[in-house]
Amino acid sequence: MGMLEGKVGLVTGAGSGLGRATCVLAAQEGASVAVLDLQEEGAEITAEAVRQHGGQAVVIQVDVSSEEQMEEAVARCVRDLGPLAWASNNAAGGLGDFVPLHETDGKNWSRTVDVCLKGVFHGMKYEVPAMLEAGGGSIINISTASVAKGEAFLGAYVSAKGGVDALTRTGAAEYAARGIRVNAVAPGGFETPGLRSYFKRFPEFAEKTIAQHAMRRVGQPEEIAEAVIWLASERSSFVTGSTLTCDGGISVNPHML
Ligand SMILES: NC(=O)c1ccc[n+]([C@@H]2O[C@H](COP(=O)([O-])OP(=O)(O)OC[C@H]3O[C@@H](n4cnc5c(N)ncnc54)[C@H](O)[C@@H]3O)[C@@H](O)[C@H]2O)c1
Repeated sequence: MGMLEGKVGLVTGAGSGLGRATCVLAAQEGASVAVLDLQEEGAEITAEAVRQHGGQAVVIQVDVSSEEQMEEAVARCVRDLGPLAWASNNAAGGLGDFVPLHETDGKNWSRTVDVCLKGVFHGMKYEVPAMLEAGGGSIINISTASVAKGEAFLGAYVSAKGGVDALTRTGAAEYAARGIRVNAVAPGGFETPGLRSYFKRFPEFAEKTIAQHAMRRVGQPEEIAEAVIWLASERSSFVTGSTLTCDGGISVNPHML
């Protein structure tokens, strides 16, 4: 039996990279998945992959920065697939200007925070009541390993992700006694369209990023999916309020090697 046999879940930002890999592994583990993304085309590809692995899938086009759209998306997920057991708030976009703080445009700052932090809040706000109704559940928010050290030229993004970690612990405290666990996963560099476009824009950054990982490589999306699906499943039944680092050792210091 799969780790998520018969369990309905939703993933935001599921039309690409880490979100897609999470949906595919969820289907392999027996889940049905609502595939939420701003871009319908990518979401359709993910949904097809879910179906090929035997899962039911529904595509919901949504901008996570819109509270109304997230409310409707969670309602549709429950209506079309059934009681919500797990959710991964994974969407991120508009990472900012790649400039130092004093050159950062306030509007871009706000857009990044609206998607990367407020989008997670919107998800949790409507996932929690759906899970309470279902008798419990598991929420996994996607953070970044960069929170601990900060990240030059990505001030809005990394600040939003720091907020995601705090929101995760707050949600864990508020709902643990009511059967909902809330955790985060903090990725290092992962080979996704998101990271590839970053490397294309700043080629000199690619080599440096790989070297920063103690494992001397970036991760594959399937490696994050393993962490997310474990947290979604009952196998992690006593884990809540944690941020699980999954980063090939970017947070440790390999510089003497
Ligand atoms: N790939 C990495 O190296 C890395 C490292 C650290 C953290 N992360 C985090 O992992 C998550 C997934 O990253 P990825 O690399 O797979 O990114 P990606 O760019 O490949 O995919 C992100 C998806 O989110 C969607 N999206 C963007 N804005 C949205 C919005 N407003 N509403 C709904 N959907 C929206 C995009 O359409 C896209 O399909 C993100 O939260 C990212 O910050 C990734």
